[in-house]
Amino acid sequence: MAAVERTLSIIKPDATRRNLTGRINAKFEEQGLRIVAQKRIRLTREQAEAFYAVHRERPFFGGLVAFMTSGPVVVQVLEGEDAVARNREIMGATDPAKAAPGTIRKEFAENIEANSVHGSDSAENAAREIAFFFSEIEIVG
Ligand code: TYD
Repeated sequence: MAAVERTLSIIKPDATRRNLTGRINAKFEEQGLRIVAQKRIRLTREQAEAFYAVHRERPFFGGLVAFMTSGPVVVQVLEGEDAVARNREIMGATDPAKAAPGTIRKEFAENIEANSVHGSDSAENAAREIAFFFSEIEIVG
């Protein structure tokens, strides 16, 4: 049996603006992930820059920070077997034009920047990203 893991998910401003939180959460729940923590917040520029610090030198960094601070986001911890990889499958490719049918990004994303969801890309990053937004007592498995 695969290990039970946790991963950090963010429902991005393009999706909260279009009132898609419930439909996105249904995709997680239907495909075996449990939402064990969730809160709606508005990221500050400092928080967005720190969260995406790994991309600081990339040409899209400024636009990404502006987008992520343009409206509310829903940050969440998802739990389940192979949660990191499973969530990446449920999300689909970064560019919605390349995302597989049925994935969140294929169904909902507007473009490669406004792509509706973030999901940690490794167990190590998941641990760091969960700790960025949540304390242990806020996570109820
Ligand atoms: P990345 O970590 O490559 O993708 P993913 O979100 O699938 O893990 O990039 C982080 C975010 O940066 C991505 O979700 C949207 C934004 N981005 C752009 O705006 N333009 C780009 O060309 C790329 C690669 C990413």
